[in-house]
Amino acid sequence: MTLDGTRALVIGGGGDGIGRGITRAFAAAGAAVAVADLDPERARVAAKEVGGTAVSGDVRSAADLDAMFAGAVAGLGGLDVLVTVVGGQVAFVPAVRLHEMRDEDWDLVYEVNLRYVARAAAAAIRVFLEQGTGGTIISVGSVTGLMAAPRQAAYGAAKAGLASLAKTVSAEYAAEKIRMNVIAAGAIATAVGAAFQDPEGVAEIPAGRYGTVDDVAEAALFLASPASAYVLGQQLVIDGGVSTRGPFA
Ligand SMILES: NC(=O)c1ccc[n+]([C@@H]2O[C@H](COP(=O)([O-])OP(=O)(O)OC[C@H]3O[C@@H](n4cnc5c(N)ncnc54)[C@H](O)[C@@H]3O)[C@@H](O)[C@H]2O)c1
Repeated sequence: MTLDGTRALVIGGGGDGIGRGITRAFAAAGAAVAVADLDPERARVAAKEVGGTAVSGDVRSAADLDAMFAGAVAGLGGLDVLVTVVGGQVAFVPAVRLHEMRDEDWDLVYEVNLRYVARAAAAAIRVFLEQGTGGTIISVGSVTGLMAAPRQAAYGAAKAGLASLAKTVSAEYAAEKIRMNVIAAGAIATAVGAAFQDPEGVAEIPAGRYGTVDDVAEAALFLASPASAYVLGQQLVIDGGVSTRGPFA
């Protein structure tokens, strides 16, 4: 799959996990990439590695998001693909049961997993419509949004919301060749993931291993490329088969 001539913005692309993997995979496939991150130094290093554009800001701020898009579009000369990677629960708030969850923690998890994605998608759509070229939005979700999410109720609910958003965006803008899809990632071996992934946990995964950043990056590559032109409003589950398990599996 090639992304030659494609201009992509990866929000959360500066970390050392899934975002960075997608940034590298896109660049290797020929895309010009802009990396957005809360940490300007992370964005700078990740963008430099791929000869791309670095922008920074906090996704919780509408003004910061506007500035990120302005910088990315200026640096890339336009935009064809948006990937949203920022998200999570354990990296942001304590993992507790619902009755113990503080309102402000729920709001923060919602902000960094769903609210900003809707804002970023809207910003990307405005660019796509102005260009008249169509475009693709990919959001990194989680199998947590498909299943029960003990001690991660806000995270699961927010990730589930991404699936609805992707369907609505695709329905509203399909005629303008704009589509949105979600990657529902399972347990991926990253620094954040390591906090709750132990060797025994592998027994619960039909594929017999934790996922890699490349497993997710390959899926993102497919969803960004014309190879998936007929895929609209879907969730691509990359979880080693975890979500296929029924009571007798
Ligand atoms: N690792 C897993 O097992 C796993 C499983 C399922 C889903 N996911 C999803 O993958 C995504 C994250 O992947 P990762 O853990 O590999 O992270 P990552 O290493 O790719 O980094 C994410 C980046 O987001 C940046 N960031 C954090 N808060 C920000 C903010 N407010 N504004 C702008 N940037 C911000 C961080 O600086 C970091 O560089 C999340 O959406 C998460 O829900 C991960």
